[in-house]
Amino acid sequence: MENFTYYTPTKVVFGKETEKQTGDLVKEQGCRKVLVHYGSGSVKRTGLLDRIYASLDEAGISYVSLGGVVPNPRLSLIYQGIDLCRKEGVDFILAVGGGSVIDSAKAIGYGVADEEQGDVWDFYEKIREPKACLPVGVVLTISAAGSEMSNSSVITNEKGWLKRGCNYDICRAKFAVMNPEITMTLPKYQTACGCTDIMMHTMERYFNQSGNMELTDGISEHLLRTVMNNARILMTEPDNYQARAEVMWAGSLSHNGLTGCGTDGGDWACHQLEHELGGMFDVAHGAGLAAVWGSWARYVMDARPERFAKFAVNVMGVEPGEDDMATALRGVEKMEEFYRQIEMPVCISDMDIDLTEEQMRELAEKCSHFGKRTVGCVKKLDKEDMYQIYRKAR
Ligand code: NZQ
Ligand code: ZN
Repeated sequence: MENFTYYTPTKVVFGKETEKQTGDLVKEQGCRKVLVHYGSGSVKRTGLLDRIYASLDEAGISYVSLGGVVPNPRLSLIYQGIDLCRKEGVDFILAVGGGSVIDSAKAIGYGVADEEQGDVWDFYEKIREPKACLPVGVVLTISAAGSEMSNSSVITNEKGWLKRGCNYDICRAKFAVMNPEITMTLPKYQTACGCTDIMMHTMERYFNQSGNMELTDGISEHLLRTVMNNARILMTEPDNYQARAEVMWAGSLSHNGLTGCGTDGGDWACHQLEHELGGMFDVAHGAGLAAVWGSWARYVMDARPERFAKFAVNVMGVEPGEDDMATALRGVEKMEEFYRQIEMPVCISDMDIDLTEEQMRELAEKCSHFGKRTVGCVKKLDKEDMYQIYRKAR
């Protein structure tokens, strides 16, 4: 087991009607003025935003609002948010939404707290390091990205359609309100994308180059089976509270570091490969992950066949085959069967994208940061490897 630091400072308030506590939770933070940040309209349609305003009013909190965050959140709205916060003297950001809204809120937080008042994109390009972030609170509306407890923010710059992440503990949410009932209005597709992303956050950590990890592996394997079971239930019973609750809690635990304790950090190549698809084609993050995973797994599994075989047996319920490679391959096929069951893509053309040769080269260029980096640890992937994986995922 590797040395590790496990840091999860987010206060989780979980269960039915918990959004009513939002005002008090904000008040506990001792702030003067709040930015309520939200997406493209679901929170208005469902009435959640009104309930949040009522809770803030009741707690005597003053606020301004900024909606309009889209999936693969855009830098231009983040600039608007930074200006608004400075103008209004905002000192706390309340994200009411999913990963996109939370990540946009974190980016605004970095920008407002930046003493140099430089370009917030610098932090995502790793030109500068953020020293501070305005405190962020979350009312979660979709179980997926895990941003409510993660140290990460992923945004898209419309100039060049680059999608980049910025990972620092200073952006971790102060609190996360999680009412599984709120996720019952999600379209089936978003539920499936969310479940895929949740699983992938644990799988990225599970596929590593580390030694023995009995407890972490056990937690990971159980989490993955739990999400698969409940994802299948939600395909026909979107209002099943129990299933929504299991998936919601799994979403946070999958990305708050728990399933990475004792690992070398994990692989993360699929996330990097997907981010370029998200940036260039605006695909839903979970769908993009499912589309590249099989291609990635087949490309790298000979570097750790025993690990892939363990995954196949303990997670996918495969009977061990004649050797680890045979078992491993069956596990990948079973995972693809699961993706099909929940109507997720298993290749890029399943998302109605017909990649040209030029586009595959461009994706690999961008993913390798123009040849300057490799991704992954199961196998270190350079630009040519990335191209091959996109090609096989086509
Ligand atoms: O914008 P609205 O109208 O709210 O609609 C959203 C959006 O269209 C809708 N939705 C959300 N809650 C709903 C709802 N519709 C009905 N009822 C509800 N209760 O769902 C759509 C997707 O929302 P989004 O926030 O984009 O989903 P998700 O949570 O999957 O976030 C995806 C983003 O997070 C990033 C991804 O790259 C992507 O940009 N990630 C962030 C991570 C992090 N910060 O730790 C880690 C992840 O790996 C991921 O990269
Ligand atoms: Zn993800």
